[in-house]
Amino acid sequence: MVQKGVTVWLTGLSGAGKSTIATELEKQLKAMGLDLEALDGDIIRENLSKGLGFSREDRDTNVRRIGFVCELLTRHKVIVLTSAISPYRSVRTELKERIGDFVEVFVNCPIEECINRDVKGLYKKAISGQIPHFTGISDPYEEPLDPDVVVYTHQETLLESVHKILHYLHAQGYIPMVTTGI
Ligand code: ADX
Repeated sequence: MVQKGVTVWLTGLSGAGKSTIATELEKQLKAMGLDLEALDGDIIRENLSKGLGFSREDRDTNVRRIGFVCELLTRHKVIVLTSAISPYRSVRTELKERIGDFVEVFVNCPIEECINRDVKGLYKKAISGQIPHFTGISDPYEEPLDPDVVVYTHQETLLESVHKILHYLHAQGYIPMVTTGI
């Protein structure tokens, strides 16, 4: 089988579970023998987007850079998994139109739950005003209006969320089968 390329774009608040889902997706897709690349927001910001901040302009630049890499890889039949907050709807839509083979996954988790989790301790700082323009606290997050898949990480198990995405990819003809059940 010749693999089809696709960009699986995970968008959601910090702490919603994007990277966790991407890591498990990566594991399962690799087990199927598929060629993939994971682009994690935090790693991209250490490399490709080093020096960029969190103004709307910088975030859009960051997201467009990730999208550019996604476009190249997708064209070469790679499955690309991206996890970046990507808070602005218009640039996500722009990338979807440009890349075509693009699956928008809304990693939906209420802000209260993200604050509770506070995996990186950043919400506490943002709430106390130490981090300005923090997404969901003092900066916007524009929810997708028509995402391809929505996962609810406060209600579903990790495997339930991952299997939802895998089933969608299968239904769209991007992956041959979903081998493991839940
Ligand atoms: S995006 O908005 O440009 O898509 P990206 O996903 O790359 O964001 O980076 C978000 C990560 O940067 C967060 O998970 C958090 O660790 C860190 N961060 C630091 N400052 C902020 C901020 N002001 N808003 C959101 N995340 C921030």
